Amino acid sequence: MINISVLGYGTVGSGVVEVLDTNSESIAKKARQPIHVKYVLDKREFPGSPVEDKVVHDINVILDDPEVQIVVETMGGVHPAYEFVKGALERGKSVCTSNKELVAKHGAELLALAKSKSINFLFEASVGGGIPIIRPLNQSLTADEIEEITGILNGTTNYILSKMDTEGADFAEVLREAQDKGYAERNPEADVEGYDACRKIAILTSLAFGKQVDYEDIYTEGITKITKTDMLYAKELDAKIKIVGSSKREDEKVSAFVAPVMIGRENPLYSVNDVFNGIYVKGNVLGDTMFYGKGAGKLPTASAVVADVVDAAKHIGTNIMTNWSTHKLELADFEEVSHRFFVRVDEVEKEAAAEAFGQVEEVNANVAGEYAFITKLMTEKEFKEKAVALSSMRNRIRVAF
Ligand code: HSE
Repeated sequence: MINISVLGYGTVGSGVVEVLDTNSESIAKKARQPIHVKYVLDKREFPGSPVEDKVVHDINVILDDPEVQIVVETMGGVHPAYEFVKGALERGKSVCTSNKELVAKHGAELLALAKSKSINFLFEASVGGGIPIIRPLNQSLTADEIEEITGILNGTTNYILSKMDTEGADFAEVLREAQDKGYAERNPEADVEGYDACRKIAILTSLAFGKQVDYEDIYTEGITKITKTDMLYAKELDAKIKIVGSSKREDEKVSAFVAPVMIGRENPLYSVNDVFNGIYVKGNVLGDTMFYGKGAGKLPTASAVVADVVDAAKHIGTNIMTNWSTHKLELADFEEVSHRFFVRVDEVEKEAAAEAFGQVEEVNANVAGEYAFITKLMTEKEFKEKAVALSSMRNRIRVAF
């Protein structure tokens, strides 16, 4: 039998306990032994719940108990999760976490610590919730050199943009509705400003290219400026507006960003709607591949955490090699990254637009008083320099077709 402890009995932590209970027999077969939850760490008590006799309030009870071999961290946030996880690894306990902030910030260091102790630090649930993406990158796509990862990595914003598209509603209206339904947090900043997707693409990029990507280096733009008028133009273009996290390797340099983009129907991410996540990965020998599923939620996320617990149980005493060193990956300067841009200005600036951008592709969605167009491919820097000539820019969105 393997004894585990769960740090944080919130949505995901309680989901982990539920999944271990629901599928206890099949999980025991796959882990080659039963998995037993010995302690649950939380500030609260849970009378009447399945864990009421397991709750402890002091991390040292868990860290000092040699019977605990695996620790599940589902608290979220960097502190004190970092200190607790480090303490567990230092005492020879493998850790499975769903915490993207922790993994993005300290992943390389915690992986090195786990390796030095011949144990494991696993984090499948930190990106894409229940979608297997960390293990495929780490273990299945090893024959390939990764050329691109582009993902719809945040369920909340994908839900909001999908609703804006289908209902013709504005951002604030749909956000309120999403909050009422529990699909968006009361404080939605991390999702709608793209910070959550930024942590996730930082993790995927670090794994794909084997070096530490600091999320602070990734250009990040949220969805708060997207309007229902933008959605009208997207329809006209047979496109959808999606917020993606993307990283690409070109000429030995890796670039990365998070931003809303117009995605055409031929792109596999076009059909990823509502709270679903989709992650497109391009390998130099494999070509295109897509990972799709539920990127958030109690049981999908717990499914990924429990799969890590099974893996950790199967590898007691052996470190599963992960290619993510503490050396920093210097990203390409975002100013030099090229896109085509969809631009909306006042109708009176039609000529000014032609003067600034030369030949453009006009887009007409019958919006009174407005002129919209798509530029040719140009760097961020070039776009900004040319756009200075336009005083009435209503919005601009990068185009991915
Ligand atoms: N707020 C996140 C999302 C939760 O909407 O995708 C999962 O990381």
